[in-house]
Amino acid sequence: MICLGIESTAHTFGAGIVSSDGKVLSNVSDTYVPPKGWGIKPADAAAHHERVSSQIVESGLLKAGLSSKDISLVAYSHGPGLPPCLRKGLDAALRFSKENGIPVVGVNHCIAHIEIAKLFTKARDPVVLYVSGGNTQVLSFSEGRYRTFGETMDIGIGNALDKFGRSAGIGFPAGPEIERLARESRKYIELPYTVKGMDLSFSGIVTEALRKLKSGEKLEDVCFSLQETLFAMLTEVTERALSHTGKDEVIVTGGVAANSRLREMLETMCRERGARFHSVPKEFSGDNGAMIAWTGILSYSSGNRTVKPDIYPNERTDDVDVLWLK
Ligand code: ATP
Ligand code: FE2
Repeated sequence: MICLGIESTAHTFGAGIVSSDGKVLSNVSDTYVPPKGWGIKPADAAAHHERVSSQIVESGLLKAGLSSKDISLVAYSHGPGLPPCLRKGLDAALRFSKENGIPVVGVNHCIAHIEIAKLFTKARDPVVLYVSGGNTQVLSFSEGRYRTFGETMDIGIGNALDKFGRSAGIGFPAGPEIERLARESRKYIELPYTVKGMDLSFSGIVTEALRKLKSGEKLEDVCFSLQETLFAMLTEVTERALSHTGKDEVIVTGGVAANSRLREMLETMCRERGARFHSVPKEFSGDNGAMIAWTGILSYSSGNRTVKPDIYPNERTDDVDVLWLK
């Protein structure tokens, strides 16, 4: 089976082609970038997706050296995400399915971030740290679902970094630039540390970091302190999930998993506990079509059928029955 996966939940429109033996044949995307100082306007991102969708799907086929006739299944991200953006992905998937007479399957975006990480890292039953723009969750599979052990009580970690970046004059996405600036400092400025039980809260820390910046602290030092604080919180909760579940493997996935400092902290924690640590490859950390294609294959092969294709803007990771895992 060869599956075309379409991703469109937020800023990125992606197309990926994956075979049922787990080979990624192509993975292409185009990202909507809002004007400097602005956040994503859903209608603008959706207009971007509409503009690029056919061309991205074409280019995915071309890179894979395939024609549309070679594709036997089309998968799309049905949620969570921004409704106008999700609808563009659904439209593109339905169009492709109809033109080629093949089935269409809707998949959960968050689960796709987890499954693509498992594909590449060969992790079998890990504690998952899923860190992206809109999401921050510590999860683990138990009794048919990925169960949430801890999560953000306000915004996702990526959005926290982007929010800080927007006010500090850094373009979108701010994560990579904050990482670069943080490397130029070793001065830790005290910031609030907010872990409550297994849950986390980020927005107060961003406000305080911006206040430090206004009071004259150097941008590099604030970026360094922000990363150290936020990533220590994530590492603490992940460590406790390892301890509660008795599992011996951790994977990190989602856009923020591209960050080397976060990986380093998690790796150190895992080494000290005798657990294995793996990170999703950088190319597949952010939103991409390949992760949707691979999850589509897993879902379809386990008997899932999407009878009435639709969008589910608020579907949580732990709402989904994961039929392909026992
Ligand atoms: P989701 O829908 O899964 O919540 P998303 O749609 O926002 O996520 P992703 O591509 O998974 O998209 O993640 C994007 C986020 O990753 C952005 O907030 C961006 O700043 C952050 N990011 C990207 N690279 C880095 C990095 N090197 N360090 C920290 N953050 C990063
Ligand atoms: Fe994502």
